[in-house]
Amino acid sequence: MIVAIESSPFTKPAAGRKRYFLNKYKYLTFFARFVFNMNEHWSENLINGVTGNRQLFFRHIAQTSPTPIAIEMVKADGIYLQDAEGKKYIDLISGFNVANIGHSHPKVVEAVQKQAAAYMHLVVYGEFIEAPQVAYAKLLTSHLPASLNCVYFTNSGAEATEGSMKLAKRITGRSKIIAFNKAYHGSTQGALSIIGDEYYRNAFRPLLPGVYHYEYGSNEVIDAIDCETACVVLETVQAESGVTKPNKEWLQSIRKKCSELNVLLILDEIQAGFGRTGSLWAFEQYDIAPDVLLLGKALGGGMPLGAFIADKKMMNALSHDPVLGHITTFGGHPVSCAAGNAALKILIEGNFIQHVKEKEKILIHHFSDHPNVIEINSAGLWASLRFDCFETSKKIIHACIEKGLITDWFLFAPDCMRIATPLIITEKELHEACGRIKESIAEVCN
Ligand SMILES: Cc1ncc(COP(=O)(O)O)c(C=O)c1O
Repeated sequence: MIVAIESSPFTKPAAGRKRYFLNKYKYLTFFARFVFNMNEHWSENLINGVTGNRQLFFRHIAQTSPTPIAIEMVKADGIYLQDAEGKKYIDLISGFNVANIGHSHPKVVEAVQKQAAAYMHLVVYGEFIEAPQVAYAKLLTSHLPASLNCVYFTNSGAEATEGSMKLAKRITGRSKIIAFNKAYHGSTQGALSIIGDEYYRNAFRPLLPGVYHYEYGSNEVIDAIDCETACVVLETVQAESGVTKPNKEWLQSIRKKCSELNVLLILDEIQAGFGRTGSLWAFEQYDIAPDVLLLGKALGGGMPLGAFIADKKMMNALSHDPVLGHITTFGGHPVSCAAGNAALKILIEGNFIQHVKEKEKILIHHFSDHPNVIEINSAGLWASLRFDCFETSKKIIHACIEKGLITDWFLFAPDCMRIATPLIITEKELHEACGRIKESIAEVCN
């Protein structure tokens, strides 16, 4: 076979080195298939080399939409991602509000490596004492109001939502749940029941009974909270409607009514937490505290982790009647907790949150009077730019990607472009990113 290749027409690189080697692989794999009867997919992978991952992605990875971004990334560092061709992108959405301190911070990587070398999974959640869990729970609760002193770690945000709804039912003995239109809390069936969009819910009915949806910001909801209500589940800043901030008095009225009727107020800060809005927790800006706080995304510093946090007296209810009222095998994985702990220390010690509001002004400066931006909604380093329709927004998002800028739209606001930069972005980098967005808008709209 070697002889055949050496004397083949592919010996001389006619159209560049890469093509030469691909042709060489093609030739080699033809023989391999013939001799070893290897299957078609195997040879295709060899023929395509790295780019073969694209075919494999579409063939073997379950798809969530017909149009994924489908760029193969090979490296992530700080605010940058790098694709298989060596092209660099600014990650303007922080991997959907995960990389608040940027990607692969060396101290997080070190914490992961150290913990993985010591131990990974040992036993189901809640049995052994695992130092990374204990340390992270201590750090988190030291930055929370006194009533939020007990952490239940999960694998994901959706599981945090599930756990909190179960806790509310268990504590109150009630089953009515109040949620909001255009809210997103996860994709499992309980979380799906409370998300605020019928298009996404309908195909999966029957869902949880006793869930009532209201307009985010409406006074109607305050009257709807009654003695049969177990909980109100609310995003402190609503993410997928395109970054909607609540009115302070409205949120305080909900808090007051919940307290009066012993209804649990569950605040979802899975996107809004970890400094995103300019304070460590978004609820701090509204002078309220929830009964249960939901965290995820940036919580794990790039590793999978979720949590619902409440008062210990309340949490104890999940350990009796029934015993094991909420259990998980991998929740609070020690490597995820070690990563999250390191990430939160970096976020706090690096004083990144203190500069969020100044950087928000840069976003507002660039886009508030832009002729093609119909509306900008922002909450710290988190913004939505509304264009005239989804088609325009989609084209601009694609143009941004061409220019090395990763952004996206919002689930319930597809005409809006999502911005959620890593909090470590410098002012210079932010101006640069805004410049690229403006160039993209000009390309599409002029
Ligand atoms: C506000 C909010 N809550 C909950 C979730 C669910 O988190 P996960 O995807 O980790 O299950 C998400 C995920 O996007 C979210 O944005």
